[in-house]
Amino acid sequence: MTEELAKIAQDLVAPGKGILAADESSGTIKKRFDSIGVESTADTRRDYREMLFRATEGMKNYVSGVILYDETIRQNAKDGTSLVDIMKAAGSIPGIKVDTGAKALPGPHADIEKITEGLDGLRERLAEYHKLGARFAKWRAVITITDTLPSWNCVKANAHALARYAALCQEAGIVPIVEPEVLMDGAHAGHSIERCYEVTEWTQRIVFRELYDARVALEGMVLKPNMVIAGQKCAKQASPEQVAELTVKCLKATVPSAVPGIAFLSGGQTDEQATQNLSLINQAGDLPWKVTFSYGRALQAAALKAWGGKSENVAAGQRAFTHRARMNSLAALGKWDEQLEKAA
Ligand code: 13P
Repeated sequence: MTEELAKIAQDLVAPGKGILAADESSGTIKKRFDSIGVESTADTRRDYREMLFRATEGMKNYVSGVILYDETIRQNAKDGTSLVDIMKAAGSIPGIKVDTGAKALPGPHADIEKITEGLDGLRERLAEYHKLGARFAKWRAVITITDTLPSWNCVKANAHALARYAALCQEAGIVPIVEPEVLMDGAHAGHSIERCYEVTEWTQRIVFRELYDARVALEGMVLKPNMVIAGQKCAKQASPEQVAELTVKCLKATVPSAVPGIAFLSGGQTDEQATQNLSLINQAGDLPWKVTFSYGRALQAAALKAWGGKSENVAAGQRAFTHRARMNSLAALGKWDEQLEKAA
């Protein structure tokens, strides 16, 4: 079993390939559609995602796997082919978001801190998702920074849930993507890159301790962390070089080399920022893991805009998606540069 899991994990982070996070919940995709003035219905969500999965050049060359939402893994394209079969035909591994969302963490900071739920009945849900074709899964924990938070309770509870989720996934023959996201888009002004380093290092340390306690095979998982970066409301923004340096330092301090790959979330960075930072991280060289992308917004924003909900814009949407996928593929090899961006 571990060998099979290890093979899937390695395929997910194959050189020059990364993951498309298309697992927006119905609430989140509605927000994205609102931004382009398109109503969110089962059909528009299907049309949009079908457009991405049928962007064959982008999918075949640059995308190793796609994270789906429960609705999408069960959905058929307009012509009746299942969306799962479409992405498989493009060489992508189907994945599934299995957490049921981040809820208020009861206690003195319930207005700020969150705990991700979804463990009840997860064994049975994973068995069903495996039958539906999923070979990897995602669970996202969120950690919010303030001057005094996160609390130990928040870090510990989220790390513990991640480890229980990961162990259940491996039992089901599914590779867990372990995502402890230290948020960058909070409102806190004191959220400097140094503060982000401190909280990210702490969080990742506790996550790997819990993974060890749960006997999760590190060879059969992928870590999906945030980059070490200043919060969006912080007056002092860090340079891309500094982001790369502190991110690499943090990962080296916390992530065992048995982990085959690290696939970042974009977390609210601009498209180009997420690409540039990833490229610089890979240029640091001498990393014991593959380091790539598992972007949602930074892979989709341009495509969503180009599409705008109109069938005549499908080709333009696919071009925009393929371009971002190619730029991020180059970044995963440490070979992106600004000229390539402009040339397109
Ligand atoms: P973003 O890249 O938009 O942060 O989304 C990635 C993801 O899957 C968050 O869970």
